[in-house]
Amino acid sequence: MICTLTVNPCIDITYEVLDLKKDDANRAVHVMRDPGGKGINVSRVLQRLGAPTLAIAVAGGHTGKLLGDLLDEENVKHRLVPVPGDTRLGIILTDLREGTQTRVSAPGPNMTMHSLDELRRTLHEELGRSKMMVCGGTLPPGVPLDLYNTLVEDARAKGVPVVVDTDGELLIAVVQAKPFLIKPNVHELSRLVERTLHDRNDVLRAGKSLLDKGLEQLVVSMGKDGAFWIDRRNVFHGKGPDVRAESSVGAGDSMIAGILYGLYNGMAPDVALRWGVAAGTAAVITRGTVLCHPEDVHRMYEQCVITKVE
Ligand SMILES: Nc1ncnc2c1ncn2[C@@H]1O[C@H](COP(=O)(O)OP(=O)(O)OP(=O)(O)O)[C@@H](O)[C@H]1O
Ligand SMILES: [Mg+2]
Repeated sequence: MICTLTVNPCIDITYEVLDLKKDDANRAVHVMRDPGGKGINVSRVLQRLGAPTLAIAVAGGHTGKLLGDLLDEENVKHRLVPVPGDTRLGIILTDLREGTQTRVSAPGPNMTMHSLDELRRTLHEELGRSKMMVCGGTLPPGVPLDLYNTLVEDARAKGVPVVVDTDGELLIAVVQAKPFLIKPNVHELSRLVERTLHDRNDVLRAGKSLLDKGLEQLVVSMGKDGAFWIDRRNVFHGKGPDVRAESSVGAGDSMIAGILYGLYNGMAPDVALRWGVAAGTAAVITRGTVLCHPEDVHRMYEQCVITKVE
């Protein structure tokens, strides 16, 4: 199976209002609750695509219990490691008229040494059953900044390749541990190589420079411009059909799930990229935090164009 690890999960509460007014009372026309966090979202999409997955996450308090219940509702297998304090809530205010989404997120409960040890013990048990692992997102207070490096090395010792999706100093740090795959978007890549990327050639050059630093492969996602798969042998560009974007929340997480669905089933990189672009594109046509519907992913897959870049 593919195990995912989320150290700082959340429950996303989305309030949809017709015309959001600041400093005033607003009435929601629709409210949604979703389990959130990068690893958790990847597991939710893998489950929908029919790939076996287990979401390992840190959870606490009533909201931690709710996280487990919401995952159960979606039949996502999970193991929750207890932490003192409450799993955080993420608030998303969707202005239906303007089509904007205003997000407010909390730092998350403090991690204790005990919970961290428990998390690593749980992961060690599950790595024996895992073909691949995904981790990503921010870290809650109390977690060492090299946690992802430690996890990549733990997994490597058991022969399990790790996909890491994170940003800023965490991404800069984890590249040193040479994870199997990273999936920065253009902004994250730009922060990683510490320079502004003006066009596709800049993006390609920056991506290839990471191979020189020992990374085996990476996928750079570029929103509506699709994504590059970059490894030592090939560079592929993938693009889905033009769609009306409703919400790009979770496009990156869906893309990772699509890529892993392909790789897990033994497909070549260009085909895995195609599943990734299909899942990412399927995520933007759904509202709010809905992620993607499997029938849309299959439809988008048919319409994706993958080209080899010379
Ligand atoms: N507006 C869009 N139109 C079509 N496809 C899109 C659009 N936005 C994203 N995608 C698809 O989803 C993939 C991932 O999106 P994106 O580059 O926005 O990831 P991200 O910035 O990591 O997203 P996230 O906010 O979920 O972390 C893209 O490579 C593309 O295939
Ligand atoms: Mg992302």
